[in-house]
Formats: sequence, C-alpha cells, structure tokens
Amino acid sequence: MEPNTPPEEFETERLRLRRPVLSDAAEIFERWTQDPAVSRYLVWRPHETLAQAEQHIARCIASWEDGTEFVWHIENLGSGALVGALACRPGHHGVNLGYLLARDSWGEGYMVEALRPLIEYWLAQPAIYRVWATCDPENRASARVLQKSGFELEGVLRRWERHPNLGDEPRDALCFSKVRD
Ligand SMILES: CC(C)(COP(=O)(O)OP(=O)(O)OC[C@H]1O[C@@H](n2cnc3c(N)ncnc32)[C@H](O)[C@@H]1OP(=O)(O)O)[C@@H](O)C(=O)NCCC(=O)NCCS
Repeated sequence: MEPNTPPEEFETERLRLRRPVLSDAAEIFERWTQDPAVSRYLVWRPHETLAQAEQHIARCIASWEDGTEFVWHIENLGSGALVGALACRPGHHGVNLGYLLARDSWGEGYMVEALRPLIEYWLAQPAIYRVWATCDPENRASARVLQKSGFELEGVLRRWERHPNLGDEPRDALCFSKVRD
C-alpha cells in the first residue's frame, strides 16, 4: 500500500514547512544552492547559475505531483526567510529523508525541530513502518541531528553513494532509522 500524499504545510514553534514555488529560486540560489559548505556531503555540486536552481525547483514540483519525492522549503516564521529544505522519498513501507540548512542557520536546532512533525506524520501512516536516512561518516552534524531526532544507527552501507564534492568514488554511509514499535 502506498502512503497518501502528505500535507503541504507543517508548522512548528519557529518554522513553517511549505511546498517550493518557482519564485523561491533566487532566494535558494543565494542562500544555499551555490554554497559549497552546504553541498559538501550531498549528491550534487554547487549551482553556478540561477537557472540550475529554477530547474531544481521545477523537478521538486514535478516529483511531488508524481509522488516520488516530497520536498518542503523551511521558512523562519518570524522573518519569512527560507532557512532550508527537507525531502521525503517513500518506498515500500519506509520513507527516506534528506535535508539541508543555509549556513547561517546552522547550530540553532532548526533541523531537529523541522523533522519532528514529519517523522510523526509518516510513522502514523498505516503503510509506513520505517523512516530512515543516511549520512556521510564525516558529517558529524547530520549524524547528531538524527540521533537527537530519536534515530538509531543501524550500520554502515559500504560504498553506498557518490558525494561528488569529495571525490569520484562511492563512499560508505551511516544508515539511521526510526521504526514503528
Ligand atoms: C546537517 C545540518 C542540517 C545540521 O543542522 P543544525 O540545525 O545545524 O543542527 P543542530 O543545531 O540541531 O545540531 C547539530 C549538532 O551537531 C553538532 N555538531 C555540529 N558540527 C559538528 C562537528 N563537526 N562534529 C561534531 N558535532 C557537530 C552540534 O554540536 C549539535 O549537537 P548538540 O546539539 O548536541 O550540541 C546542517 O549542518 C546542514 O545543513 N549541513 C549541510 C547539508 C547536509 O549535510 N545535510 C545532511 C545530509 S545527510
């Protein structure tokens, strides 16, 4: 059984999660898609042009519509500024998570806060038993976010994924999950 399409919006104490729109392109380009510190452990290279950010958002919109990936942009409720993004990829009875924050929004606990309603939503869906994420073994901040979100380390997926900003070869990944009791 495939899960339903998730809510388009979630709100937490400090943040609003909402669907990306094409007019976000300039802001995400400036705030994170061109920043090599943000993409260091991710599967894409920093964007060089605004058009790449536009194409990325167009793909997010299309993949929401076809149900392969759900992406939310994260807004600071106080300022309205975008602070980051979250992605959920459903498959079988689990959902895989990906996330990032703009560099000036690191260290505020935003990602743990943004993940909380999503994890709760997915694990309340009858078809979903498992929420999981991988991170590069060197990405200590990301591993810590997952631990603080109640995920457990399952093990190392060897030669799991290429992180092109760190080299051409597939790298090991730490695999974390939170499962329904
Ligand atoms: C991963 C990321 C979302 C973390 O978000 P964040 O909101 O800054 O994280 P938090 O403030 O909640 O917490 C980070 C934790 O990691 C710790 N941490 C940060 N850098 C660290 C490092 N180099 N070594 C060890 N711990 C580190 C912090 O001390 C904090 O732990 P604490 O609350 O116990 O003190 C953010 O760093 C990011 O966007 N990175 C780039 C994109 C990315 O790598 N995404 C994840 C791909 S798997």
